[in-house]
Amino acid sequence: MFNSKYEIEENYQVFPGHYLMAFKSLDIARTALPGQFLHIRCYQGTEPILRRPLSIHSINKEKNLVYILYRVCGRGTGLLSGMKAGEMLDVLGPLGNGFTMPKNDEKIVLMGGGIGAAPLFFLLEEIKTHFDKRIDKVSVFLGAANSDLIVGKEKINKMGFSGYYATDDGSSGFKGTVIDLFETIWTEGSPDRIYACGPSPMFRSLAEAADKNARIEVSVEEHMGCGLGVCLSCVCKVAGPGTSTENAHICVDGPVFDLRKIIF
Ligand SMILES: Cc1cc2nc3c(=O)[nH]c(=O)nc-3n(C[C@H](O)[C@H](O)[C@H](O)COP(=O)(O)OP(=O)(O)OC[C@H]3O[C@@H](n4cnc5c(N)ncnc54)[C@H](O)[C@@H]3O)c2cc1C
Ligand code: FES
Repeated sequence: MFNSKYEIEENYQVFPGHYLMAFKSLDIARTALPGQFLHIRCYQGTEPILRRPLSIHSINKEKNLVYILYRVCGRGTGLLSGMKAGEMLDVLGPLGNGFTMPKNDEKIVLMGGGIGAAPLFFLLEEIKTHFDKRIDKVSVFLGAANSDLIVGKEKINKMGFSGYYATDDGSSGFKGTVIDLFETIWTEGSPDRIYACGPSPMFRSLAEAADKNARIEVSVEEHMGCGLGVCLSCVCKVAGPGTSTENAHICVDGPVFDLRKIIF
């Protein structure tokens, strides 16, 4: 984990209300794992005092560039969207655990809802690097409110993965949720492994829709304070031994969890 200031390379709107920022960090580019997140100070001044957690969206290891893709939804992300190339960004990370990498012969599904899909792209990059000859075994399902908000369709095609898309209003692809789409397309057998990022209702539907033998890892989002397991603002309930339950800190025990261990 590093805490340093890194120079912003670019920061621009990619689609309505959503920004892509790149900053240069050899430390993070060399050590981060897909699924980990960064705790970012969104302003050079003192307010807002708390950092904001954002996933690592992509890494260019040749140029040591780290990308975040974020939706402007409040003060912190609003200030972040105003930062310019050349300014310094205060970043703590990489934090949390990452996704378990798949085995070579597994059938894999990656599933994202809205901006929740952001961390899946770093995972796709790593899968492509390590399993390039098996990318026919990888399917990507993305859902969004409308066609403007589907994250990274062109990138998925460019990387050679099979992409399937759903929109709530039917403006692109399948009309309905990404889980409905998954159930429509995947009618025979089951993926060995599913990686999902998105809102909690999507995870609940996924738990019902997916085969019991599929291993499912999800990245959970919650308000965070310290990002280091100290302040308790991100506690969630997970299954413990037998029928017991335990508290887990999303910032250090997650954000990636086995879906079947989460107690909603
Ligand atoms: C591990 C992790 C990874 C994340 N990765 C991304 C990412 O890659 N891209 C991205 O756009 N967002 C991501 N988020 C969500 C992001 O952290 C929040 O949108 C951000 O903190 C909001 O800050 P703000 O000051 O702009 O909004 P605030 O003013 O703090 O809040 C604005 C609104 O957003 C809600 N909100 C704030 N934080 C969260 C949260 N963590 N989960 C759910 N709702 C929240 C608030 O309740 C409020 O309604 C991630 C969150 C976590 C925990
Ligand atoms: S954010 Fe402080 S304990 Fe997780």
